[in-house]
Amino acid sequence: MTIEFTAGNIHDLAPADLVQGDRVAGRIYTDPEIFELEMKNIFEKTWVWVAHESELPKPGSFKSTYVGRNAVIVTKDRKGAIHTLVNRCRHRGASVCEQRTGNANGFTCPYHAWSYSLDGKLRGIPYPEGYEGVMNKEDMGLQKLRTESYRGLIFATFNQDAEPLEEFLGDVTLWADHFLKQGAGYPLKVIGTQRFKFNGNWKIQLENTTDGYHFPIVHRSWMATVDAETADMLSFMTDPESTCHDLGNGHSVMHMVPEHIDLDVDDGTEPLQARFDGLVAELKQAGVDDVEIRKLVRSMHGTGSNLNLFPNVGLSSAFFRVLRPVSVDETVIEHVALGPDAPPEIAEPVIRERMRIHEHFQGPFGFGTPDDAEGWARVQRGAQASPEMPIMVNRGLNREYKAPEGWVTSHSTDETGMRAAYAKWKEMMSND
Ligand code: FES
Ligand SMILES: [Fe+2]
Repeated sequence: MTIEFTAGNIHDLAPADLVQGDRVAGRIYTDPEIFELEMKNIFEKTWVWVAHESELPKPGSFKSTYVGRNAVIVTKDRKGAIHTLVNRCRHRGASVCEQRTGNANGFTCPYHAWSYSLDGKLRGIPYPEGYEGVMNKEDMGLQKLRTESYRGLIFATFNQDAEPLEEFLGDVTLWADHFLKQGAGYPLKVIGTQRFKFNGNWKIQLENTTDGYHFPIVHRSWMATVDAETADMLSFMTDPESTCHDLGNGHSVMHMVPEHIDLDVDDGTEPLQARFDGLVAELKQAGVDDVEIRKLVRSMHGTGSNLNLFPNVGLSSAFFRVLRPVSVDETVIEHVALGPDAPPEIAEPVIRERMRIHEHFQGPFGFGTPDDAEGWARVQRGAQASPEMPIMVNRGLNREYKAPEGWVTSHSTDETGMRAAYAKWKEMMSND
């Protein structure tokens, strides 16, 4: 039974009741107690994306990041195993690593120099006499999260009982496989990360990755600054083949450029965009053959889809979009640009060009992301008013159907992906 939000009940409804299928209450963006419960029931219970394998290239490589609000370090040990460790000394709680990335033999706490190995074991304590018979060193390693990866996508969870990662991802793997093809035959590597904060709740960003509806509106200024072919490629509003699937577990995928969903499928008729003529000439001069050049150039904008993984990462066309909840109305976003891990004569010009495309949309002076961020902050401001008035996520309910694979599907401009994410949110927020 659907619960109607009213001025009388809105402040008293249980968090899970604030999601009602095709509508959600603004309180889920603004109530600090709900945020606390989300950290416990979602971010400390499910798989959270922490790194891409290319960020840990060698034994000893590490990356500092977060799982919910918990600072963690993702490390690669001497044997190549990946660990996710809570960045908190077991003595009196100091952080043991303040660098974002680097290479180390281990971590030594700056306060009293307890030192830990790359897999988190407590290795050394200065002046150990004071601990004889007091504690076992073996019990005092850095707290470790479960860590699993799928084709270089590394996730961690505090929940020792969570399902295996691949089960959690389910049909996402099919679309992740397509996403990974943009290396044009080479593995993908992180080529740069751009970080910014917006004053709004994390779910406003979560909704955005498969929100095709806003694209031609919010990104009109970006469309006006690109060549006609690029703008045309993204005019999916009226293309009936352009769909969004609910993949289960809160995940969804939205297709924007149907002919680039699977970059391995190429009937050879699509002309290469004139904007890449310079790149083509450079690759030719380096001796790269025409077949490979075509593959590299067709992959320049990434895949034709945005894949949204609940709760914190989007595999979004050509980059990862990672969200980190900071407080009920503050979220940090990282846009992680990607390129092929290829020999220098290919990698250098391709990555340079991919970086320019990334900056043009996602960069701080870009024509895309700053407009998105303005929209998100406005949702946060607006949602403070009239709390009984619902946020609507009902677009396309009239045309949803089940695809042969079993996925609830609608047009890419519909809110199917948001309904998927909120159904998962409701389920997790109902748990005790
Ligand atoms: S707080 Fe880390 S060694 Fe004391
Ligand atoms: Fe956008």
